[in-house]
Amino acid sequence: MAPKPIKHAHLQIDGESVTIDLPIYQGTAGAPVIDVAKLGASGYFTYDPGFMSTAACDSDITFIDGDKGILLHRGYPIEQLAEQSNFLELCYLLLNGDLPNREQNDEFVNIIKRHTMVHEQLVRFFSGFRRDAHPMAIMCGVVGAMSAFYHDSLDIDDQDHRRITAHRLIAKIPTIAAMCHKYSRGQPFIYPRNDLDYSANFLHMMFATPTEKYEVSPTLARAMDRIFLLHADHEQNASTSTVRLAGSTGANPFACIAAGIAALWGPAHGGANEAVLTMLAEIGEEKNIGEFVRKVKDKDSGVRLMGFGHRVYKNYDPRAKVMQQTCKEVLEELGVNNDPQLRLAQKLEKIALEDDYFVQRKLYPNVDFYSGIILKAIGIPVEMFTVIFATGRTPGWISQWKEMISGPYKIGRPRQLYLGAAQRDYVAINKR
Ligand code: ACO
Repeated sequence: MAPKPIKHAHLQIDGESVTIDLPIYQGTAGAPVIDVAKLGASGYFTYDPGFMSTAACDSDITFIDGDKGILLHRGYPIEQLAEQSNFLELCYLLLNGDLPNREQNDEFVNIIKRHTMVHEQLVRFFSGFRRDAHPMAIMCGVVGAMSAFYHDSLDIDDQDHRRITAHRLIAKIPTIAAMCHKYSRGQPFIYPRNDLDYSANFLHMMFATPTEKYEVSPTLARAMDRIFLLHADHEQNASTSTVRLAGSTGANPFACIAAGIAALWGPAHGGANEAVLTMLAEIGEEKNIGEFVRKVKDKDSGVRLMGFGHRVYKNYDPRAKVMQQTCKEVLEELGVNNDPQLRLAQKLEKIALEDDYFVQRKLYPNVDFYSGIILKAIGIPVEMFTVIFATGRTPGWISQWKEMISGPYKIGRPRQLYLGAAQRDYVAINKR
């Protein structure tokens, strides 16, 4: 619900005597917003392709200051959460608004553990896909199909249903993600193990086989947990806005999350972590960086420095800083000193940060620049990177959806600036 206006903007239109009064609100932090919702009644719409200046909703969940490089979840800085919390605790925080006490934490962890298995019939759903299908294609389809399996929690107006669905999604997404991987490898699916914690269990489902004992490395489990945590929510980004838009029609949450997964897949969004490794492989050696950067600066080449730039951050992405540190720690602990791709990425980052083209446009590494190198060190195949992002982002999507559905909301229905043909009469085919 909108707060009280702090002041008003007055819109005067050339040649018109009426002044349109627009209330201005100040949130807890961030830029003030001008409320244009009533503008339509005066015969005008606002025009803002790509939502460059538009706040599409109000929210209590996440705050970003892109100029200062600040990211807060429910008020807590991401650096503190990455250092002191863990992914499941952050899921609780995003969903419920406050950090859990010990009892609440134990109960939440237990609930999530008890929901990790997927319906056995859903397992069969996988065999309809080709083995060489992209795991994001499978994930999108399977998560959408969940609404056909969990009928008992689809009433979006029932808060218990919303809670159960949120728990089911957070618990089952890693199981589905690992199944996508196993399916493409032609290996049997591995059931979840509830004696393991969330991220260790994910690695177990990814890498265990029925024929060999698989010991989950605590180092890798910690790194995995941090990757999930750093991706958990990010305000009204493209996929989250997709989830909200789909949700605003009253669609069921599984369908909404599937829509979010589809939006995340694009290389300008969650697909960037996969694209970074493809880019590093293409560059190959340090001696080729100069030529690559030249191509990036040439607008006609269509080449972008993947993992660089962000719509909101015009300063270092705070998640990228934590990710870079995690990357070094993981490679050190794994004994992968001198990883050539990490060296290449560091060199590329240094060159880009000193280059006028990137400085002028305030282009800094984003969360995806280093995450791929860590994921690769953990042994996750490149085509699974965006699936990992989707797994981490699920609590954010479901918390944002739940926040919207829990309050008064309207169907999201943007308008347009129509530039097509004016009204004309139909011409019969033999006269065209
Ligand atoms: N490489 C080269 N140039 C870039 C890059 C880049 N990665 N990003 C932006 N630019 C340039 C643009 O060409 C443009 O230059 P111009 O002003 O001379 O025309 C200027 O910087 C502004 O770029 P826009 O595309 O207008 O910025 P926008 O906010 O719309 O896009 C985006 C942000 C999509 C993230 C963009 O920076 C990009 O494509 N980055 C690479 C892909 C990537 O890493 N995506 C992950 C984002 S983070 C996430 O989703 C987790």
